[in-house]
Amino acid sequence: MNLPSKVKIVDVGPRDGLQNEKAHVPAAVKIELVHRLQDAGLTEIEVTSFVSPKWVPQMADAAEVMAGITRKPGVRYSVLTPNMKGFEAAVLSKPDEIVVFAAASEAFSQRNINCSIEESIERFRPVTEAALSQGIRVRGAISCAVGCPYEGEVAPERVEMVARLLKGIGVQHMGVADTIGVGTPLKVQRAMEATLRHYDINDVSGHFHDTYGQALGNTLICLEMGIWNYDTSSAGLGGCPYAKGATGNVATEDVVYMLQGMGIDTGIDLDKLIDAGKFISDYLERKPNSRAATALLNKRTG
Ligand code: HMG
Ligand code: MG
Repeated sequence: MNLPSKVKIVDVGPRDGLQNEKAHVPAAVKIELVHRLQDAGLTEIEVTSFVSPKWVPQMADAAEVMAGITRKPGVRYSVLTPNMKGFEAAVLSKPDEIVVFAAASEAFSQRNINCSIEESIERFRPVTEAALSQGIRVRGAISCAVGCPYEGEVAPERVEMVARLLKGIGVQHMGVADTIGVGTPLKVQRAMEATLRHYDINDVSGHFHDTYGQALGNTLICLEMGIWNYDTSSAGLGGCPYAKGATGNVATEDVVYMLQGMGIDTGIDLDKLIDAGKFISDYLERKPNSRAATALLNKRTG
C-alpha cells in the first residue's frame, strides 16, 4: 500500500451539487455555503459553472455568486467553462482555476455539451491557452470514465485517449469522473491507470458519484494507488442533469471521516463541515445525504 499522508479535497457541492436542484437556490445561499466550506478548512471550492443558462438554469447566477464571495487567502475558487463564451464571462470573476469537461463516451459528450469528443477538445484548446496565458490554472474532467448512461460500460482505452488529448492541449490536472456512480474499485483503478499514462500521480483526482454506494470503496483503492486529490460534495448533494438517476458525489463528510480514521490529514474541521452540510440541507428541506453526518448529528442531539 502506498497511502498518502495528506489528501486535498475539492468541495464541488456548490457546483455539481446545486446544478441539479429543481427549485431555485438563491445566490446568497450558495455564497453562504461557500463561506461555510472555507471556514471548515476546504482549500478549494468548485463554485459554479459558466454554461448556458438554457441548459443549466441553476447556474445562471454564476457571476453574482463569484462576486459575492469574500475570498479567503489560500483558498482556490474554481469554475466550469465549456467554451470561450463561458471562459470570457468567467474571467471577469477572477477564478483561480477553470475546469474543462470532456467525456469518455461520445453519447454523453453530445448530451452534456452538444458536441463530439473531438469537437470538445477543439473548443477547450483556446480556453486552455487563454487561461494559462493569464495565469489561471486549468483542470480537466473526464466524465463517464467507467460507465455511461447511454453507452453502458466504458473501456479504459477511451479514458486513455481523452486524457492524452487533454494533456496535448495543455490541461494541467485531470479528474477521473464516475458520473453515474456505477464504478467498482478494480474498474476505477483501471480508469485511473489509463489516466496515469499521461498525468503524474500528483495531477490526477477522483470524482466519484455515489449512486451505487461504491464511492468510498473507489476512493480507498485510489488512496492505495497513492492518489491524493478528490472531488467530493458537502451533504452528498447533486448529480448531473444529463445523467438521469445519478445521485450526488460522495459526501465530503463521509470521505473526511474515513480519512481522519486512517490518520490521513485533510486540514478540514469535521464539525464545521457537518454544519455547512446541515445548512444547505436545511435550506433544501432534507437530511444530509451522508452517513457520517447523520451519525454525528444524531450524536449531538442524542
Ligand atoms: P450549444 O447550444 O451547442 O452552444 O451548447 P452554442 O455555442 O451553439 O450556443 C447556443 C446558445 O447558448 C447561444 O445563445 C449562446 O450564446 C449560448 P442564443 O444565441 O441561443 O441566445 N451559450 C452560452 N451562454 C452562456 N454561457 C456559455 C454559453 N455557450 C453558449 N458558456 C454548451 C453548448 C456547452 C454551452 C451547452 O451544451 C451547455 O451549456 N451545456 C451544459 C453542460 C453542463 O453544465 N453540464 C453539467 C456540468 S458537467 C458535469 O456535471 C460532469 C462533472 O461533474 C464530472 C462528472 O461527474 O462526470 C464535471
Ligand atoms: Mg460530477
